[in-house]
Amino acid sequence: MKIPRRETQVADDSHNAVSNAVQPDDIMERLLKYRRSQGMSKEEYASTVTAFYNLITDFCERGWGRSIHFALMDPGVSFEESIANHEYFLGEAIGLRPGMKVLDVGCGVGGPQRSLAGKFGASIVGLNINEYQLGKCSVYNSEAGLDHLCSVLHGDFLNIPAEDGSFDAAYHIEALCHAPDKTAAFAEIFRVLRPGAIFVGYDVCMTPLYDGGNPKHRELKEINEYVSALPEIASFTEVDDSLRAVGFELVEARDRALDANPKTPWYQPLEGGNLDLRSLSRTALGRKIASAVLPVLEGVRAVPKGSSEARKIINVVADSLLAAGRLGIVTPMYYHKARKPG
Ligand SMILES: C[S@@+](CC[C@H](N)C(=O)[O-])C[C@H]1O[C@@H](n2cnc3c(N)ncnc32)[C@H](O)[C@@H]1O
Repeated sequence: MKIPRRETQVADDSHNAVSNAVQPDDIMERLLKYRRSQGMSKEEYASTVTAFYNLITDFCERGWGRSIHFALMDPGVSFEESIANHEYFLGEAIGLRPGMKVLDVGCGVGGPQRSLAGKFGASIVGLNINEYQLGKCSVYNSEAGLDHLCSVLHGDFLNIPAEDGSFDAAYHIEALCHAPDKTAAFAEIFRVLRPGAIFVGYDVCMTPLYDGGNPKHRELKEINEYVSALPEIASFTEVDDSLRAVGFELVEARDRALDANPKTPWYQPLEGGNLDLRSLSRTALGRKIASAVLPVLEGVRAVPKGSSEARKIINVVADSLLAAGRLGIVTPMYYHKARKPG
């Protein structure tokens, strides 16, 4: 598929380039754009994914935090610590150290970028197609005092606005599941890495337990794709084959969800247990409470119009992932480590 080259603002390691990030319109507008984007063709993936993250980013930040991904959970380890540990695992797999220039592919609002730069002292450039998230990312990088290590780059991972061989390593966390053509995305990452560089990531994949002949499985897969702006969710083999097809040497690949303590699967934060006020909003009970309360708050104009409708969408995203997670047919942590030869 030919991807048109987008206007981009290129950051270097010492400053944040997105100074006038696009602010999304009010929630009603964001909702309408999201609804219109659903069911668009693969070629229009950029509009779909942008509309999705414009709609959900603020809600995610409030209910989940500034790292928009799942984590291996351990009993007795807090949610925030588990999220950070999940990120550090990638930093260790790369061998991150000061002086390295690293690309974070699909960086969200930069939670992982700041956590890895803070722990390992590497320079990390956050690439994202979503300007609203990048604007926030820049602000948070400055607030954290990490401008000297963290910068942002507006662009599409199918057409990365960077020179060949310009990065010492790259990683992604639950971002390349949005690629309408995974091989094309891996080829771009391969291109911008120097020979010998490591690329690691956690991909959202259907597991070998997924049975395409089972109507329930198929329905859950399709709902997840439809509500979360995902093209076909890939299998493990598809990820491995795409990495090799573009020239990467596959060092390691496995589903880290299988390392989880059975008492605390990755989807546990969506279902509840050990509830505190902050965690409530991401659980099934919290979702029910929010659905009941938001229309009332909207009625008295205590929250923006459209909040309850937006919340309903987030609930469908969470509930469909939870159902697929309980069946073991989807994982958000298919870990892969690849090396560019040389
Ligand atoms: C689930 S979020 C994960 C964000 C981040 N990795 C984290 O863990 O906090 C997926 C991210 O991928 C970004 N993304 C999706 N499609 C993209 C594309 N074509 N090019 C660049 N970024 C993209 C989204 O805007 C979003 O920030």
